[in-house]
Amino acid sequence: MRTVLCPGSFDPITLGHMDIIMRARDLFGHVLVGVGRNNQKKYLFGDQRIHLVREALAGVEGVDVEPIEGLLVDFCRAHGISSVIKGLRFGADFDFELQMAHMNRGLTGLETVLLPAAAEHVTLSSTILREVMKLGGDVDKYVPPNVARAIAAWRESTTG
Ligand code: PNS
Repeated sequence: MRTVLCPGSFDPITLGHMDIIMRARDLFGHVLVGVGRNNQKKYLFGDQRIHLVREALAGVEGVDVEPIEGLLVDFCRAHGISSVIKGLRFGADFDFELQMAHMNRGLTGLETVLLPAAAEHVTLSSTILREVMKLGGDVDKYVPPNVARAIAAWRESTTG
């Protein structure tokens, strides 16, 4: 059994993320889900992101969740992890994932495995979900039940 890190912003976690995490667990045996920060992004769910990931994956065997502070490669070194897995969707993902993968490999030799997103999730993104939910659309079928509840609470708080 090996541990692979599955890092991401998870703003919020979707069924597409869940699918990648479960398939990673089946491939490697153990997944550490790392809730990280991309400094180019402004997060809607902020610090709640890790709570939502933990809740969505509570009780799932072979999966743990930790925040990533600082560089991903430093986090991996501190946890004795030598590979990272990320889902790859349609189109633009590839360029950015390739840039990050090469940077991480250049920094410490950390390897990246890119796992194609399942056909039903290949166009799903947290960015589009946030856009739809901000405009009042129902995104519940794309997220785990706890995230659907958090979105309902967010909607209540923004509409008063
Ligand atoms: O879901 P995302 O937004 O593609 O996740 C990006 C994330 C959080 C994995 C990435 O920004 C990251 O690794 N952040 C930690 C800081 C770091 O090491 N940045 C340099 C990456 S080459």
